[in-house]
Formats: sequence, C-alpha cells, structure tokens
Amino acid sequence: MKRIGVFTSGGDAPGMNACVRAVVRTALHSGLEVTGIYRGYTGMIEGEYAPMHAHSVSNIIQYGGTILKTTRSSEFMTKEGRVKAAQQIRAHGIDGLVAIGGDGTFRGAVALEEECGIPVVGAPGTIDNDVSGTDYTIGFDTAVNTALESIDKIRDTAYSFDRTFYIEVMGRHSGFIATEVALASGAEYVIIPEVETNIEELSRRLLAARPTKRSNIVIVAEGDETGGAINIAKRLNDLHNIDYRICILGHVQRGGSPSAHDRILACVLGIEAVKTLMAGISGVMVGQIDHDVRLTPFHETFEKKKQVNLDFVKQLGILAK
Ligand code: F6P
Repeated sequence: MKRIGVFTSGGDAPGMNACVRAVVRTALHSGLEVTGIYRGYTGMIEGEYAPMHAHSVSNIIQYGGTILKTTRSSEFMTKEGRVKAAQQIRAHGIDGLVAIGGDGTFRGAVALEEECGIPVVGAPGTIDNDVSGTDYTIGFDTAVNTALESIDKIRDTAYSFDRTFYIEVMGRHSGFIATEVALASGAEYVIIPEVETNIEELSRRLLAARPTKRSNIVIVAEGDETGGAINIAKRLNDLHNIDYRICILGHVQRGGSPSAHDRILACVLGIEAVKTLMAGISGVMVGQIDHDVRLTPFHETFEKKKQVNLDFVKQLGILAK
C-alpha cells in the first residue's frame, strides 16, 4: 500500500475534522501518501481529489463540520456510479480508503468493496450514534451537549411561564440523543422510536401532575413514529388544554466545536483506521467498546440494531417530580 484516500460522507458531525487530521498524519507518519476526496461519494465519482500534507490538516481539530465537505450521493447508489468511483480511485493511484460517516456511508463502502474490490476501512462519524460496533460515534457527545445547552435555556422560560415545551431533537431512526439529553436536562418525558408512544397515557400523566407541576419539558426524537414534536403537541392539545410551545432544535445540534470526548475518539479511531488498512484488513469499521478498539464488519454496523439505554427512560421517570 503506497497511497490511501480519505473522505467524509453523510451528515457532518463535530470531530470529523479531528478524524481526518488523525488519518492524514498517521498515514504520513507511516510513510504513505494521502489523497483527500472532497464532497463524499459525489466527489469520488466526479474526480474531486487533492493530495494532503501534514499542513493540510493544521488548525482544524477544534472545528465542527468537515474540511473535506460532504454529500448524500444518489448516483453512488447505482452500480454505474460505483463503477465510475472505482475507476477514479484507481486512476488516482489510491490503494485503500478510510471512510468517515454513518450507516449510509458504510452501506456504500460495502458495495464499493464487494463489487469493485477497493479496500475500505470505516470510522463512525454521525451525531445519531446509531451505528453498531462502537459505544459512541464521533459527534454524538458534542450534539448531546449542544442540545442540552439550549434545553437549559428553554427550561428558564418554561418554568417562568408555567408552560409545557415539546422539544424535538435529531435522531433520524433512533432515540440516542433524546434519551441522553432528557435524563441530563431533567426532562419530564421522553418520546423515542424505540418505545411505542401512548398519547392518551402521556396526556393523563401531564394532567395528573398539574396541581403541583405546571411546567414540563417533553423531549421528542424526530424519528418517533408519531411524527415529531408538532404532531405530538397537536394530538395532546386535542386531549387537554395545557399551554404549550414547540421548539425544534434542528441543525444547531450538528455544528460547533467538538467536545474533548469527540476529539479523543476521533484521534484514536483515525489512527486505528490507518493501521487496520495497512495490516491488509478491509470491509470493517473501527469502533470503541468499553474503551477497547474493536473491528466490526460493515454489514453488522447497519444490520444489527444498536440498543438505546432504556434504563435512562425509567430513571427519568423516577427523578421527574
Ligand atoms: O444523520 C444525522 C442527521 O443529523 C439526522 O439526525 C437527521 O435526521 C439528518 O441527519 C438530517 O439530514 P440533512 O442534514 O441531510 O437534512
């Protein structure tokens, strides 16, 4: 192996830059050349490649987003798109790839490897944390803390006005962000796709607590089957008449300077991804479980459902009074 490529793909996550830096510097340290592939699978197909040097990744460890840019490529979902990508990779003399992203990125990586024989190792980067084979994904910790900061502010006004707030957090198919911010913010309720939502029961609980408790924070994961905070608030309002407001935190959760946790995870996994490629291993994601680095086949990272900690939901119920 003489030259590797590195790219970021899917939703950007704080810490992706730290991971790119770790990949580039580890590869150079090991005597490899490194090519940056811009705009994810789109740039891979369209030929957006540039050599990377140690200084190309200077002064980026503290920034959110990704200097390599990112896309969700529909062309790469086609066989023709992947063949074009593989031709470009070979034309640029790249012997293996490090893919930084989430489940969509790894689905693409599997196809590229299996159909076109390009070695790929992945590092998990997504705020959703919905990737099996790692306790945490790069970006999750920062997103939780960013959401928490906003929820703390909302609580001030919720309390002062005796209002119920429905706060929607990200998590396309999962409640990882929702359960952590709910417990950490002292929320009264959390609504996640992993637990069936019972609107009548929630309404009864809100009403029963009314005499003593007039402000509530209800955290809603965007991926809940009931359709997010707006729908839930409307349905609850049909059942009772409690003054409420809705806040959808949205993409603020994706940006910002990565936490120390995310930077460290990014450094460790970036280094390990390069070492893994150099060892001739491919088709796997490097993750961290109980502080140990583990390799997980790409298929497993998205086929095996990672479990949300449902104890958080019970604990929140005990603590919210
Ligand atoms: O995968 C990360 C994520 O932020 C999800 O939580 C969210 O559903 C999605 O990306 C939003 O994607 P986009 O920025 O493309 O709208």
